[in-house]
Amino acid sequence: MMHIIYEPERQRMAIQKSGRLHKASMDFLSARGLIFPANDRTLILPCENFDIDLLYLRDDDIPEYVRSGVADLGIVGENVLAEKGADLPIIAKMDFGRCKLVIAAPKDSRIRTPEDLGGKRIATSYPKLLSEYLAKEGVEASIVPISGSTEITPELDMSDAICDLVQTGSTLKAHDLVPLFTVMESQAVLIESPAKKQAKESFLSQIGIGAIV
Ligand code: PRP
Ligand code: ZN
Repeated sequence: MMHIIYEPERQRMAIQKSGRLHKASMDFLSARGLIFPANDRTLILPCENFDIDLLYLRDDDIPEYVRSGVADLGIVGENVLAEKGADLPIIAKMDFGRCKLVIAAPKDSRIRTPEDLGGKRIATSYPKLLSEYLAKEGVEASIVPISGSTEITPELDMSDAICDLVQTGSTLKAHDLVPLFTVMESQAVLIESPAKKQAKESFLSQIGIGAIV
């Protein structure tokens, strides 16, 4: 039975439960001296030597946890922040998680320019960023909202193109998709809840994060 999370002076930091940013976030915290117990599949991990608990979440949910103050801090991609919580303050840019949000299509697709997307179906977990991009390009297309595994939708004829993240490019490659247009460049950032808390400031200065970047 864990009682730790109810102690108000303990901070909570939301990080991605699995996916591109999980290991890099854990490595970042370890490098700053934080020690965690071996993960026994819990989704709340108490730090052993700082007053902070990690919440393992879907990355899309991190902005809402931080905005509501349930989490004091969060590590999330700028892409998710722009899609879900652009108003939250960024306190540091992390040196990891660099990726691009791209529009990609099957190798044999005839889509060559953004105008060619007109009337096409584009599957994405980033409907807000995609619709802003299409509006900027003056193109009308149909957005197919999906919450994951977007890369399989063209081969299932659910879409003509996708708008998704590319880091190494191996997921696109595995599905014979080629990146065509960049919607946004992104990296991992540290965000904080709007509530100013003494404990949060003191935690950040203990791990060497002070100035706003
Ligand atoms: C992203 C994206 C791809 C993968 C691309 O997932 O959805 O599946 O990373 O990486 P690659 O180019 O190195 O193959 P992310 O970790 O953001 O998790 P999520 O989409 O499941 O939230
Ligand atoms: Zn996600």
